[in-house]
Parts: sequence; C-alpha cells; structure tokens
Amino acid sequence: MTDTITIRRPDDWHVHLRDGEMLQLVAPYTARQFARAIVMPNLVPPVTTVEQASAYRDRIVAAAGEGFTPLMTCYLTDKASGDELARGHAERVWVAAKLYPAGATTNSDSGVTDIRNIWAALERMQAIGMPLLVHGEVTSHDVDVFDREAVFIDRVLASLVHDFPDLKVVFEHITTKQAAQFVADAPANVGATITPQHLMLNRNALFQGGLRPHAYCLPVVKREEHRLAVRAAAVSGNPKFFLGTDSAPHVVGAKESSCGCAGLFNAPFAIEAYAQVFDEDGALDRLEAFASLNGPAFYGLPINDELMTLVRGGEIVPDRIGEVVPYGAGSAFGWRIQD
Ligand code: NCD
Ligand code: ZN
Repeated sequence: MTDTITIRRPDDWHVHLRDGEMLQLVAPYTARQFARAIVMPNLVPPVTTVEQASAYRDRIVAAAGEGFTPLMTCYLTDKASGDELARGHAERVWVAAKLYPAGATTNSDSGVTDIRNIWAALERMQAIGMPLLVHGEVTSHDVDVFDREAVFIDRVLASLVHDFPDLKVVFEHITTKQAAQFVADAPANVGATITPQHLMLNRNALFQGGLRPHAYCLPVVKREEHRLAVRAAAVSGNPKFFLGTDSAPHVVGAKESSCGCAGLFNAPFAIEAYAQVFDEDGALDRLEAFASLNGPAFYGLPINDELMTLVRGGEIVPDRIGEVVPYGAGSAFGWRIQD
C-alpha cells in the first residue's frame, strides 16, 4: 500500500474566490494547494470588462499572497462583444470566457438568454483560441432539476460543439453519465472539470436524515449511477478530464436558510478529497494527470515545476472557517499535504 505520493503541484480549473472579506478569507486556502486557478466571474456586478477583470486579479493576488496565479475569465452576457473579448485575451487578462445560461445558478441573472445572442462572440473566441467554459444546464421550468445537464447536451451543447468545431470548450463540473460520455466521445478540443463532491456524493446526501444544505450545489448531485460514471471518467487517465473544485463559499446563514444558496466550500481540503477518491479506486498513479497535467495541456499552459507530496492520514476538517462551513466538516479525508 502506498502511503506517500508526490505529484506536480496541482491547479484548480474552476473556483469561486468571491470578493471583499470573503476573498480575504478563502483565497489563501486555494493558494495553499494550487499554483493557478481559473477564477469564475460571477460577482455582483459580474466581471464583464477587461478593466474589471484586471482590478479583480490584483485584489486576488493581494489576498492570496506570493506564488499563486489567478487566471481570469469573462462573464458572457447577451451583449458580449467579440472586440472586448479579443482585447482582454490579447492583453493576457482573460484566459477564457464563461457561459452561464441566465438563471442557472448563483449570480447568473445577467447570463446568456439564448446562445444565438453570443454567436459572433463565439466565432471570435474560436478564431483567437480562447476557451469557452460552460455551465451546462437548461433552466426551463418544465425540465426536472436532475435532468437539466443531460437536456442541455441535447438542446445546446451538441450543436454548439458541431457549429464551432475548433472552439475549445470546457463542460464545467460534470455530474451525469451523459456528460461523461459526451465529453469522452467529443473531439480533443472538448474537456470537462470534475468536483470532489460529484465524485463522493449522490443525491441521497441532500436528504441524509433531514435536509442537508451543505450538500447542495449546482449542478445538484445526482443518482449513484451518475456518480459512478463521473468517477470512472475522473480516474480513467483520459486527458479530457481534469480537476476543478467549483469551491463556492457562502456564509452559513445563507446556506442554512429557507432558501439556501447553492455552493460548497471545498478549497481547504480539495486535493486531499481527490486523493481519497483516486486511492479508493486504486488509481493513485493517475491523480497527477487529473490534478496537474491534463488541465495545463488542455489550456496550452506549462505544467508547474514545483512538487507536492501527499501522505496517508487526514486531519479533521473544522466545523467552521470564518463564517463558512467547509466541505467535509467534522470528518477527515484519507490524505494530507506534507509540509
Ligand atoms: C456557484 C456559486 O455559488 O457561485 N454555486 C454552485 O453551486 N456551484 C455557481 C456555480 O458554479 O454554479
Ligand atoms: Zn462554479
């Protein structure tokens, strides 16, 4: 049995670092684990201009400290401008742009109401090699919340990938067997991020002995068969699948509420949680590809020089970090980072 594993330092290809006090609280946890992170732009107001993104990047660097590189994203709205996207990309402020279907998740009200509204922006992104990051859920009230990802593939994503054959597309935080299959079958310019919670939880977690707001995120966790399919994809070694925590902190009062917010704060013990999953599946030798190699390869960025060593035996996750309940509170993941 392996008790120690050394990998290249990992990156997080999907994280919400928020702003203000919350940014100050959470950024050091991401920076402790990850060299770089793709930072989601769903602030209020959303990050839609190059100047906003550049100022936000400065605030993140100040909060995270030395040795951490935030990779910024543009929040696409119906009014997204190809020129602004190209300018931000050329100035190396924006690494990618994020598509939130309007109303799909936290702070997505300004998101895209119809994919046709951003057609010109997508053509420009394809031309300049700027990846599109997709929150893949339809929002129609007639579609069951557990089916929204699978329906999104049929109604939006399949034709998008077909119509933009050279556009790099990341299907973010996949949760279903349909999504895992779609990405596996797609051309090499289509990848996917996978969160710890979608590898560990099925939808029973939402109702375990009562209503569990700290298991609630979007896309919502699914049936066991989907968890197993997503997990098989993650540990497969297939370069299309890579680490994206979707760490999305909300203060405890916003979670434990009559209308609780979606999102889990998993950044403090993210790599430990992934290591546990890969260990359980006898795939520790593929953790490095998932966490540290596949993401940079997809984005066309160098892999990190530094190494990280993980050792067996986790510490208990605290009940609170500031006013936030971290993912796994009160329990331990099987691994820890060696200092
Ligand atoms: C995210 C958030 O709170 O910003 N919430 C979540 O449940 N994942 C938004 C998102 O990524 O959908
Ligand atoms: Zn997210």
